[in-house]
Amino acid sequence: MTTGAIATVALILHSLAAVVWVGGMFFALMALRPSTTALEPGTRLSLWSRTLERFFTWVWAAIALLLASGYALIFWVFGGFGKIGLHINLMQGIGIIMMLAFFHLYFAPWRRFRAALARQDYPAAAGQLNQIRIIVTINLVLGLITVAIGSSGRYWG
Ligand code: HEM
Repeated sequence: MTTGAIATVALILHSLAAVVWVGGMFFALMALRPSTTALEPGTRLSLWSRTLERFFTWVWAAIALLLASGYALIFWVFGGFGKIGLHINLMQGIGIIMMLAFFHLYFAPWRRFRAALARQDYPAAAGQLNQIRIIVTINLVLGLITVAIGSSGRYWG
């Protein structure tokens, strides 16, 4: 594969993965959440359980693709860490923070949310869902910043 072909494939996969992850968080917080507040707790919490289960599978795939395509660009297109600009370092740093925040969300509040829902402890499940909401809000802000940095950084000068 030529460098141009690697760059093309990697950038397409990289930006599509970013769109899926960041766009999904935007939809969940800005469109779905305000529309679910009127539902009674059992219905609302199980809707979130089924919705987030599917979305989180896509987030795992997006993270794998972002890392693989990002480091493919750094090593095969840019020629290693010594040759990358500030914007790529910033993107990598914020991206890794987002990923660690997601791992925490997945293995702590998400597990506890599902356990609480299984025993129909709705107040406990709602508390865990609130934790998930806070982490997703932080990750949405970081994700929007990262997209702005990643897509404009090459023109910073
Ligand atoms: C965590 C490790 C990451 C690495 C190593 C990485 C690496 C890169 C590289 C090398 C580029 C090409 C930059 C250029 O052409 O000047 C790029 C572009 C980009 N990245 Fe990342 N990235 C990472 C994470 C993320 C994350 C988490 C997001 C968003 C959620 C993101 C969004 C973007 C976007 C939108 C572009 C611009 C694509 C385009 O318009 O050409 N990246 N990334």
